Amino acid sequence: MQGIRLSSIQRSTCRDTEMKPLEIAAIRDVLPGVFASLVSPELRHALQRLPTSFLTLGAYREGRPVGLAIAERREGTETAGLLALTVAEPERRHGLGRMLLEEIEAVLLQTGIRVIGAEFLGGTEPGTPEAAFLRACGFNEPRPGIHIWGGSTGLHPELPWVHKLRLPDTFDVAPFTTLTRQEYEEIQRGEGVWYPPDFSPFADEELIDKERSLILRADGEVVGWMILEPFDARTMLFKTMFVRRRHQRMGRGIALAAEMGRRLVRDSAFSEWLLFVEARNEDMVRFLHRRVSRPGVQKEVLWRTVKRI
Ligand SMILES: CC(C)(COP(=O)(O)OP(=O)(O)OC[C@H]1O[C@@H](n2cnc3c(N)ncnc32)[C@H](O)[C@@H]1OP(=O)(O)O)[C@@H](O)C(=O)NCCC(=O)NCCS
Repeated sequence: MQGIRLSSIQRSTCRDTEMKPLEIAAIRDVLPGVFASLVSPELRHALQRLPTSFLTLGAYREGRPVGLAIAERREGTETAGLLALTVAEPERRHGLGRMLLEEIEAVLLQTGIRVIGAEFLGGTEPGTPEAAFLRACGFNEPRPGIHIWGGSTGLHPELPWVHKLRLPDTFDVAPFTTLTRQEYEEIQRGEGVWYPPDFSPFADEELIDKERSLILRADGEVVGWMILEPFDARTMLFKTMFVRRRHQRMGRGIALAAEMGRRLVRDSAFSEWLLFVEARNEDMVRFLHRRVSRPGVQKEVLWRTVKRI
């Protein structure tokens, strides 16, 4: 960060001339605790020691923190991600958000960054304040990046298929822990051949719940899986579901999901479930809209957008 200058260390931002002058300064090493209310809980932990790839700007009015912007430079690329941009509520709609963004963009530009990406969590409808702000600051129209469904693991009367659908007798469902070494190696060799890398059952394998994750076999051969990962103490994340091509579009995936659903209903360890699907996985998104989107099930979208700076 040596040699990088903020264009306006001390300047008054506001249209409201009554407001006291504002200071924007780069923050290094540790984020002072006074900024806690401007940081999401998910990010708070990562900020105890600011990585060198982070660029952090704090805005102060009379020494009080009123805004925060954090961007992360993606090593070896011309891209940075906007991790946080927050303005304290009483300060909103006075141009501070735009100013913080302009400052961070100017510094990123000096370090060779040309594209900045932003994402935010919202409902299913596009017209949110976050989207309006980012559009006003020159970002493209935000698009769904990840679809998120969630609910309680209790009986879902809205999802009767969970209780009805069964796999034919030629199929067998067993925990991930039953994978033999030979099966494990065959699946490893199949990555990018008979299943796309995104659907690997071994991604972040140390985090998955191997007792509850399921392997689907047909006539003794592994033909699919449903991988679970604890998300927090009470929430189980449905991480990856895959069924081999020759068994797709025959209702096997949904029957595997139903089997998993029934097991979770009986399992008192987790009271909530969560499911993330990349928007580019269009078949799965359609499937879940048809089968899971119900009034008792929550639906959110992680919206994504980019801006060339
Ligand atoms: C989004 C946020 C940073 C905006 O900060 P701000 O200081 O209020 O924004 P600005 O005053 O610079 O607004 C710039 C333009 O963005 C648009 N905008 C900002 N907030 C808006 C809102 N709530 N609804 C609609 N448009 C909005 C407007 O076009 C505005 O220009 P205008 O006031 O001349 O109409 C602030 O509302 C915030 O901290 N929200 C919570 C965290 C968040 O959502 N961060 C964004 C994640 S990427």
